Amino acid sequence: MKFFAVLALCVVGAIAVPLSADQAGLVKSTWSQVKNNEVDILAAVFSAYPDIQARFPQFAGKDVASLKDTAAFATHAGRIVGFVSEIIALIGNESNAPAVNTLVGQLAASHKGRGIQQAQFNEFRTALVSYLSSNVAWNDATAAAWTAGLDNIYGLLFAAL
Ligand code: HEM
Repeated sequence: MKFFAVLALCVVGAIAVPLSADQAGLVKSTWSQVKNNEVDILAAVFSAYPDIQARFPQFAGKDVASLKDTAAFATHAGRIVGFVSEIIALIGNESNAPAVNTLVGQLAASHKGRGIQQAQFNEFRTALVSYLSSNVAWNDATAAAWTAGLDNIYGLLFAAL
């Protein structure tokens, strides 16, 4: 009975299983290798998923290679990648859980207002993991750590979206 109660809560995404210290360390160390590649990361997301690019009136329909040189693109890339950095700085310490909840709740609220749905957030996740796997030292342990961390954040996000 207890098992099913826990399972039910996990399925709706309300429970975040804390990362082990090793997993949090792996997420932080791999992220630090790419966190300054803001423009490259957003360009990879837009190239993989033009439907995400299409939601930005200022970027829709434009060539990603030429957008990469613009200040507007760099600014937005800095916002998105900076958000990921803020979350990653907080993980690995349970006392930061309320702050993570607040930040993810704000992201959900602002994007719900824009009509962004789970499917597009999932696309973002796929593109981010793909970028990581080809730009940092990647193996089963790093993949598992990122899966665990992203499952937690996406559980919170989707519960609020
Ligand atoms: C996956 C599909 C997504 C779409 C289609 C989307 C779309 C948008 C749009 C249209 C804006 C407004 C841009 C502007 O006013 O110039 C925005 C703002 C923003 N987005 Fe996203 N977004 C997505 C995912 C994300 C993700 C995954 C993050 C964080 C990791 C993020 C972080 C932000 C931030 C920090 C802002 C600026 C502050 C705010 O308005 O909330 N977005 N997004």
